Amino acid sequence: MNNGDAPVRLIALDAIPDGGFAEVEAAIDGDAESLLLYREGVQVRAWLNICPHAGRRLDWSPGQFLKTKNGLLVCAAHGASFELVRGECVAGPCRGEALRAVPVMVRDGDVLVDPSP
Ligand code: FES
Repeated sequence: MNNGDAPVRLIALDAIPDGGFAEVEAAIDGDAESLLLYREGVQVRAWLNICPHAGRRLDWSPGQFLKTKNGLLVCAAHGASFELVRGECVAGPCRGEALRAVPVMVRDGDVLVDPSP
């Protein structure tokens, strides 16, 4: 029986602007989750689209994320700022906390996620 362990395609790499974001829905451990994807060249990092401050989405509209000139992601709800390597909050109401990382990989031009990490 297929229990869904094969990596699942989320989006084409080219659908994410370099240095920009995308939002996708994915089943992680059986739960439908909104994921925030951040692209840097051919690398993509992903986190749950849930702010550690008050649990709100980070985007102000689906897939629309705020990024400062110095490369921080800003939560649209109350302005917490996150660096985009480890997803750590570096300023704002949840300073020192971090986004929950979701392991993704890029293969043949697609971003894939393991649905049961
Ligand atoms: S929910 Fe993100 S800063 Fe408050």
